[in-house]
Amino acid sequence: MTVENKQNKFSDLDIKKYRGQVLKWYDAHGRDLPWRYKGGDVANPYHVWLSEIMCQQTTVQAVIPYYNKFLSTWPTVQDLADADNEDVMAAWAGLGYYARARNLHKCAKIVANDMNGDFPKTQDSLKKLPGIGDYTSAAIAAIAFNEPSTVMDGNIERIMARFFCIEDALPKAKPVFREHTSAFFEGFRERPGDFAQGLMDIGSSICTPRNPQCMSCPLDEGCLARSKGVQEDLPVKIKAKNRPHRYGEVYWITNEKGEVLFHKRPEKGLLAGMIALPTSSWEGKISKCKRPEFIDGALLQDTQTHINHVFTHFDLTLSLKVYNKNNYLDFGEGYCWRNPEKIKNKLPTVFKKPFVKFMIL
Ligand code: ADE
Repeated sequence: MTVENKQNKFSDLDIKKYRGQVLKWYDAHGRDLPWRYKGGDVANPYHVWLSEIMCQQTTVQAVIPYYNKFLSTWPTVQDLADADNEDVMAAWAGLGYYARARNLHKCAKIVANDMNGDFPKTQDSLKKLPGIGDYTSAAIAAIAFNEPSTVMDGNIERIMARFFCIEDALPKAKPVFREHTSAFFEGFRERPGDFAQGLMDIGSSICTPRNPQCMSCPLDEGCLARSKGVQEDLPVKIKAKNRPHRYGEVYWITNEKGEVLFHKRPEKGLLAGMIALPTSSWEGKISKCKRPEFIDGALLQDTQTHINHVFTHFDLTLSLKVYNKNNYLDFGEGYCWRNPEKIKNKLPTVFKKPFVKFMIL
């Protein structure tokens, strides 16, 4: 097969050569990550799956402590399947995108209870499981089962855009990127997982969005964008429309024992099932927000503190209000008093932020 684009052609031999250079680089410089099995060891599919779900939209550095904690608490997929959902959600607290944790637990139950603990080996069958999409199924199939599936994340897209000098704009041009990327993966059964992870590492340390270190890159010699000096202009991305901003209030309500009022969020929607501080509704304008019934505006104290948080589809600003010694008993379903020190680590990040104000670090 020959991969063509506007500028040039790469033969099968070229592709083989550059693949070899990436693998050589990976063997010498690839990161030692706790889920990786370098030097020919066979990867454990449970470890690969767990790491790939955690790495979605999250940096490797942030993932490592969570990954280690999950594996020490639940060493096998059966252990994770048998865990209480609340414990899984609490262990995930702080990693964000909580739908991932719910799907992770659902997926563990299917694999442990319906598939005898064995993850499916092909991309198509992996994709049928909860929380596993195009990228994750390809990564698991390649890394855990040596399947030559085309692995393409943001780092790999950037490398391909530059190597092949693809000027079509993302996200619309994804199929063009996929076609070029697949030239490296199709039919490559020897080390597709190492090759994919080599590209991920090159993308995060060398072929970076700005100031790429082309002189250290194992793909430098063939890189078409580099030969034209346009590597920093690629990939072209059509900017997303302005992100919406929402506003609201978050309440730090204490009782006489020094406990704080928390709220278990509904099982559907954003941060579903997570423990949270009580809040007003979140709206486009603060004037439109609705307070919970038990909030008596006259007793609220403003702290002049704003909590800012970035969600996938919007930015949020919450003004932090304090409500002291509220012993009102009937807060409604899902509310409970807790020692704030003890519950802090079970909260999503947005609700950990107010703790700084009260010096609970
Ligand atoms: N991001 C997602 N999966 C990864 C992996 N296996 N290695 C490095 N970065 C990653």
